This record gives sequence, structure tokens and C-alpha cells, in this order.
Amino acid sequence: MKVSGRVLAAAVLAAFLAAPAGMAVAQDAKDVYAKRVDTMRSNGRSMGAISRFVKGEVEYSPAIAEAAAQLDANAKIYPTLFTPGSAVEGSRAKPEIWTNAADFQVKLTAFQTAAASLAAAAKTNDKAAIQTAMGPVGAACVGCHQSYQAPPK
Ligand code: HEC
Repeated sequence: MKVSGRVLAAAVLAAFLAAPAGMAVAQDAKDVYAKRVDTMRSNGRSMGAISRFVKGEVEYSPAIAEAAAQLDANAKIYPTLFTPGSAVEGSRAKPEIWTNAADFQVKLTAFQTAAASLAAAAKTNDKAAIQTAMGPVGAACVGCHQSYQAPPK
């Protein structure tokens, strides 16, 4: 097959143009992964702080409301944390997040609803209400991890 100089030039140009875009996508995927891990760890800290209060290890303080408000804010950005292609090297995000997108969305929404309720409950020093609201949040974390977080390598 004879490839004309013009076609070849076009192909070279296309490859040249595609490269930076491809690199930008790869960097975005890494940024999304980093943000996802940071946000998950922040969730862990919030849950830890609230559970220390529920267990009676610490008194109620504005820090409890802040921990729950942070969790709620985190939940609201969850839809941005799972862009396709963001299961980069080191990630434990399972491919099913993207192949079972409808079920994943159900779990994500359950978490958002539970986190909003907990943030509302944690505004005042009402241990029973906070404890009650914490249950569904914990269940939402576990529910999603069971299906969509791979075991540590
Ligand atoms: C909608 C699904 C979903 C929900 C809800 C969810 N997570 Fe995760 N979480 C994941 C996935 C997926 C990973 C793996 C991310 C990766 O490695 O790319 C993960 C990872 C983590 C990690 C490990 C981060 C690291 O160091 O690598 C922690 C800690 C964590 N989640 C805490 C929580 C807590 C606490 C909650 C609830 C308050 C929660 N997550 C709710 C999906 C979820």
C-alpha cells in the first residue's frame, strides 16, 4: 500500500496533537484518584471523631458538628471522585464502579442522604439522635466498599 506524503504528514500531526491531550487526561485521572483517597480519609477522621463522642470518650463540642458538616460536604462532591479512567496504579477502585454504574449510583446516593441527616443531627448535643443518624452512614460506607473497593494488594 502506498501512503501519500500528505496522509503521513496528517497522521504525524494527529499523533503530535493527541499526545499532550492524552497526558492531560492521565494527569486528571491521577488527580481524581488523589482527591478520592484524601476525601475517603477525611471521612474516616470525621467518623472517628463522631464515634468517640457517641462512645462517651469526648464531650460534645462544635468539632462534632464540624466533623459531620465536613462529611456532608465530602458526600456532595462524591460524583466528581469517580470519573472513568481514574482507577490508576495503586487504586483499589473496582471496575464494577463503571460497569454497574446504576447500582453504584444507588450506593452513592444512600451515602449522601445519610451524611446530610447526620450533619443535621450533629448540629446540637443530642447523643441519641447523632447515634441514630450515624448508623446509616456507617452502613453506606461498608455497603459501597463491599461491592466496589478491592481488598488491599
Ligand atoms: C459510593 C461508594 C463509597 C462510599 C459511600 C464510601 N466509600 Fe470509601 N472508598 C470507596 C472506594 C471505591 C475506595 C477505593 C478508592 C481507590 O483506591 O481508588 C474507597 C476507599 C476508602 C478508604 C481508603 C483510602 C486510602 O487510604 O486508600 C477509606 C479510609 C474510606 N474509603 C473511608 C470511607 C468512609 C469512612 C466512608 C463513609 C463515611 C466511605 N469511605 C464511603 C467507595 C466508597
